[in-house]
Amino acid sequence: MQLFQGDCLSVLPTLPEKSVDLIVTDPPYFRVKSNDWDNQWENESEFLTWCELVLFEMTRVLKPNGSLYWFAGPYMAAKRRT
Ligand SMILES: C[S@@+](CC[C@H](N)C(=O)[O-])C[C@H]1O[C@@H](n2cnc3c(N)ncnc32)[C@H](O)[C@@H]1O
Repeated sequence: MQLFQGDCLSVLPTLPEKSVDLIVTDPPYFRVKSNDWDNQWENESEFLTWCELVLFEMTRVLKPNGSLYWFAGPYMAAKRRT
């Protein structure tokens, strides 16, 4: 097992494609918590764009039969970028 620490958008691109069995992630929810990490985007659209970038990399590294569990706040969970 390997352990990485860093920005997911820096670390994920270093992993080979179709190499990961399982992703369980609890990313920022967008303006649910007062912490800086949950308030780093100007608006919903920016946050959803970031989610798309992360998901692009996650789906790239997942094996075809891999699984992804993404925790989300109830308000943003069903949102899509407009
Ligand atoms: C909802 S919290 C996770 C809390 C964790 N499940 C726990 O119980 O401590 C979201 C986490 O994502 C981290 N984070 C925010 N942006 C990130 C990024 N670009 N790459 C990696 N982690 C990030 C934050 O530092 C924060 O710790």
